Amino acid sequence: MSELTSKQIRERFLQFFQKRGHAVIPSASLVPENDNSVLFNTAGMQPLVPYLLGEPHPHGKRLVNIQKCVRTQDIEEVGDATHDTFFEMMGNWSLGDYFKKEAIEWSYEFLTSKEGLGLNSRRLYITCFEGDENAPRDEESAQVWREIFEKNNISGERVYFLPAENNWWSVGDSGPCGPDTEMFYDTTGELNFGMTKEEFIRVADEQKVVEIWNDVFMEYEKKDGKVVSKLKQKNVDTGAGLERVLMVVQGKNNIFDTDLFQPIISVIREMSRMPLDTRGERIVADHLRTAVFIIADGVVPKNTDRGYVLRRLIRRSMFSTSEKKFTENNIRKIVEAVLKTYEDVYKNLTTQKEKIISEIVKESEKFEKTITDGLKQFEKISENDISGIDAFNLFSTYGFPIEMTEELAKEKNISVDISGFKKEFKKHQELSRASAEEKFH
Ligand code: ALA
Repeated sequence: MSELTSKQIRERFLQFFQKRGHAVIPSASLVPENDNSVLFNTAGMQPLVPYLLGEPHPHGKRLVNIQKCVRTQDIEEVGDATHDTFFEMMGNWSLGDYFKKEAIEWSYEFLTSKEGLGLNSRRLYITCFEGDENAPRDEESAQVWREIFEKNNISGERVYFLPAENNWWSVGDSGPCGPDTEMFYDTTGELNFGMTKEEFIRVADEQKVVEIWNDVFMEYEKKDGKVVSKLKQKNVDTGAGLERVLMVVQGKNNIFDTDLFQPIISVIREMSRMPLDTRGERIVADHLRTAVFIIADGVVPKNTDRGYVLRRLIRRSMFSTSEKKFTENNIRKIVEAVLKTYEDVYKNLTTQKEKIISEIVKESEKFEKTITDGLKQFEKISENDISGIDAFNLFSTYGFPIEMTEELAKEKNISVDISGFKKEFKKHQELSRASAEEKFH
């Protein structure tokens, strides 16, 4: 059987749930509407919070979509097998309709049936919530899983209970939340007979099993980090990262070898005068892909908030190339490779194409101008460890993302006062917000 492409997986996911009564809704913008508490949507449920809290959704109680997300808290990990800063989350929702049994049975069916992904069910492992002062151990989900495995003659221990740190999901300190059950897939194909919990934790750390789907059972509400009540309704919020699912379906051991990244990576290979190492290549591909999507959703590079995330991504990607710069021609080629992969799905990439190219070009020209002076300045201050203020000046005057200062410092075996930098950064953000507000009064 030929392997499924990202396009086929998208179609199958939406169709599978549409056939089971779910309305297909489009991805919301990366920039949250009416919610200033987060910079970007980081999960499929975020744009749906009002409906999880009980407001009726115009499309009913069963929804399915593929949501664009940006998460940068693991930016340092990009370059390993599974981390990226932009990803798409496939999700199905029950807004006070079905609950654990149906959600879990459909997840299993989608993962393993021919209608879905046709994955090998003997390579699946499951985690459930072990219980704490907020909510009881989730025996109900575990029981549904055990029955599924029994019915399919799959032997060996495969359902493990873990604490809230692993199996409780919420978007922040306040809002809808609940225990979850996570599905892991054995990427090695060698662990077929089940494992003890300790063995499972070890192979998960070694990335021999990877999480591919999370079903969250949202029936609680948190305020300031504490569960305060049950919600009006019991919801299901699921999330399966398209890149990771694709990786296991295509039998790869990392997300960059899949059809979502390969066209972008091959352009990067062609354009580099000196071949980049694997990590550098992946950073450029990941960060520029994310930058393209962020600009298409209306953000431009700045020194604060969303604009700063974007600036950091573009500058980090430039810094990862051998030349420490991009030509306009190279940027165009990379943007076109991203578009080729995604233009059928996200029409705004095509309409915004020239703007995307010109913003990245402008940013890389600005960076090129300051990098030489910035490197000189770095040489001056790097006799000793770098203070928070110096790191902040490198950032504000020369546009050095903090990771770049850290990397340069590492090469010299000196340290950077990151918390001092963060303090300065926060001060600066507050000042610039205050002055922006003044302008409106
Ligand atoms: N909201 C859940 C997650 O992001 C599904 O993992």
